[in-house]
Amino acid sequence: MRCIECGKVHDMGRPVYACSSCGNLLEIRMDRAEALKRISKNDIKKRHVSVWKYREFIPISDKAKVYSLNEGGTQLLKCGRLAEELGLKNLYVKFDGTNPTGSFKDRGMTVGITKAKELGMKTVTCASTGNTSASLSAYAGLAGMRCVVLIPEGKVALGKLAQAMMHGATIVQVKGNFDQALEIVMKSSEKLGMYVLNSVNPFRIEGQKTAGFEVCDQLGGKSPDYLYIPVGNGGNSAAYWKGFEEYESLGLTDGLPMIRGIQAEGSAPVADMFKHGKKVLEPVKKPDTVATAIRIGNPANWKKTVKAIKDSGGSATTVSDPEILGAQKLLAKLEGIFAEPAGAAALAGLRKDVDSGSIDRTASIVCVSTGHGLKDPDIAVSQSARPRVIEPTIEALEELLEGR
Ligand code: F0G
Repeated sequence: MRCIECGKVHDMGRPVYACSSCGNLLEIRMDRAEALKRISKNDIKKRHVSVWKYREFIPISDKAKVYSLNEGGTQLLKCGRLAEELGLKNLYVKFDGTNPTGSFKDRGMTVGITKAKELGMKTVTCASTGNTSASLSAYAGLAGMRCVVLIPEGKVALGKLAQAMMHGATIVQVKGNFDQALEIVMKSSEKLGMYVLNSVNPFRIEGQKTAGFEVCDQLGGKSPDYLYIPVGNGGNSAAYWKGFEEYESLGLTDGLPMIRGIQAEGSAPVADMFKHGKKVLEPVKKPDTVATAIRIGNPANWKKTVKAIKDSGGSATTVSDPEILGAQKLLAKLEGIFAEPAGAAALAGLRKDVDSGSIDRTASIVCVSTGHGLKDPDIAVSQSARPRVIEPTIEALEELLEGR
């Protein structure tokens, strides 16, 4: 585990999230040759697809008891109707909303909680726009740990709040936004003896990188040409890239995708860096978007995600709230995929690129849909027509269907 800036090596047997010398983020680098000695390409192929299929590439000791809800192994859906609508040839959606708690967070949380137990921690914590808190609460319950989640008051979708409540977390509403909640978590965790499971924790990233492995496996040992992915705190986009990059260097897949990071217009400090060629992130003080999951103005992982996107030859851009909601409806209507707004942002970004003619229509494209639509029923209901009410007769039904 080492610092992404100064390279200082840190002990993996202690709960640390930032470099003790320069304060930057930490990342875990595996010994790739060593990992390949322990598992062959054929062995990997035979295993059931899930996060722990890739155990040899996850930095958890062989002796550790794993806390799992069988996360990962989500479908890579070939979207024919959507492709036709957009005039594309090879369009796929990686629907990570089908994870056990309905978002991609579970990939990181199974590894993070397993590590928390290994470290002997009793309490875990996070700040969250909703999904991290839902996932952490579930895994903390599974592992018999206390769970404390800090959320921005009134800005977490109902389904996510319901999950954290049912799983028995201590839920603290902060009169502020996600960025402020995360600052409290980071500054208080050591004093209060809590293990932080936001994506600044490098073990979270190690679980989430398996999504990149999976996409390659599901495409028959090839990476897609493009990966469209929403960017909030910047952990998932960095994790996908880490997955692609490691898998390619291990000789387990061919090629690397270009990453297109998508942010909501009102919460777009990373996209802003690409637009204006900035070297340092300028936080958005009052982030806002209908996609509450990515309502983040000061992404903790900005350095990791900017590097990942640049290394891939890609860039980041914005979509408006109406574009996000339009894409959400399109996914639901044409492909049967019910995503929450943030889970449709990637498609909204792709649609914009198609309209501007900046993408090769024959390329293989994967859009990551990060969270399930059932998480945010209010948004779904508010943008749909009200169901009609009829008398309980066949005539009334006939009349309604004939539009009389
Ligand atoms: N999509 C969904 C559905 C999310 O919940 C999040 C992040 C993202 C995308 C962005 O991922 O932060 O790794 O860039 N949700 C966090 C949370 C912040 O607290 O649930 P990221």
